[in-house]
Amino acid sequence: MRAYLYNGAGGPEVLDLTEVPDPVPGAGEVLIEVAGVGLNRADVMQRIGVYPPPKGVTNIPGLEVSGVVAAVGEGSDAWVQELKGKQVVALLAGGAYAEKVSVDARHVLPVPAGVDLVDAAGLIEVAATVHSNLRGEAKVAPRETVLVHGGTGGIGTFALQYLSALGATALTTVGNAEKAQLAEQLGAAHAINYREEDLVSRVKELTDGRGVDVIFDVVGAKYLQANLKSLAPDGRLVIIGLMGGRKAEADLGLMLAKRLRIIATTLRSRGADAKAEIVRGVGEEIWPLIENGQISIQTNKVFGFDEARAAQEYFDSGEHTGKVLLRL
Ligand SMILES: NC(=O)c1ccc[n+]([C@@H]2O[C@H](COP(=O)([O-])OP(=O)(O)OC[C@H]3O[C@@H](n4cnc5c(N)ncnc54)[C@H](OP(=O)(O)O)[C@@H]3O)[C@@H](O)[C@H]2O)c1
Repeated sequence: MRAYLYNGAGGPEVLDLTEVPDPVPGAGEVLIEVAGVGLNRADVMQRIGVYPPPKGVTNIPGLEVSGVVAAVGEGSDAWVQELKGKQVVALLAGGAYAEKVSVDARHVLPVPAGVDLVDAAGLIEVAATVHSNLRGEAKVAPRETVLVHGGTGGIGTFALQYLSALGATALTTVGNAEKAQLAEQLGAAHAINYREEDLVSRVKELTDGRGVDVIFDVVGAKYLQANLKSLAPDGRLVIIGLMGGRKAEADLGLMLAKRLRIIATTLRSRGADAKAEIVRGVGEEIWPLIENGQISIQTNKVFGFDEARAAQEYFDSGEHTGKVLLRL
């Protein structure tokens, strides 16, 4: 089959389309004929050499696909065999930039009713990240207020819609006025322009001085102190990205006084059982919200499989909102 590999570390030019052996599904695994690939920041971080795949995982990049189950591993249970021929999405630790992938059947969900097969490629990574962190880790309750950094990114566009469906109030940060408009359409009560406004004072104003209950953060070090100042008593800071660096000083006194918690997670490095549990939760709680229209698909641009370099270049530019995909 054809698949992409990174030929060294660097810009999109290191992406090389090559011929590699087809993956062979083992017991409990399915082989998917890929229709769509979702791009993620992790693909870029792996390309520049700062986020290698976990031990034992293929060097082929990419964390999510949609497609059709073409074969099932020998010795698989009946429920796995029944997946043959079905349209599915799959959460991967790597291997998505390829014509075929082999994956643990527990990390697969049917394409939600009413969703186009290629668009579905951009769903599972964000859905699993948002649900496992906001519901699973931070335990966001309806009527709580949540600040989502980067409200128009792949993660942010999903998180804003999910919070709205949950009955929580979302504030968000964005880089320009056009993105502020989109964030508000997706359910944000207010979008703060992070290039022009002071985060801490704006959050105070918008919450009558109280602060927010939860912050969902893709920025990391650069915002640590401002995040701690912006949290209400018993607040939870959930860090999932380090776009603003990994090392920072924190005022622990602030944390003690307000009983704050910092939670930090990555989905990719979780074990197979934990991922299976997360995917099951997404199927039960998130898929119905997509099927009833409370969460809408946010595909921004679809590139051909041969255009992966251009797709990553576009993703790198930061112009995009929502998801960027490859179509096979
Ligand atoms: N831990 C996990 O399991 C996990 C899983 C998935 C993703 N992630 C991480 O989550 C992050 C976002 O992923 P993605 O796929 O959504 O990427 P993306 O689509 O490129 O979105 C990035 C977002 O970050 C925002 N941003 C950048 N600098 C910012 C700043 N200083 N202040 C506020 N917002 C800022 C951007 O806002 P503007 O466009 O408005 O500038 C954009 O909305 C990445 O770091 C990724 O690695 C983690």
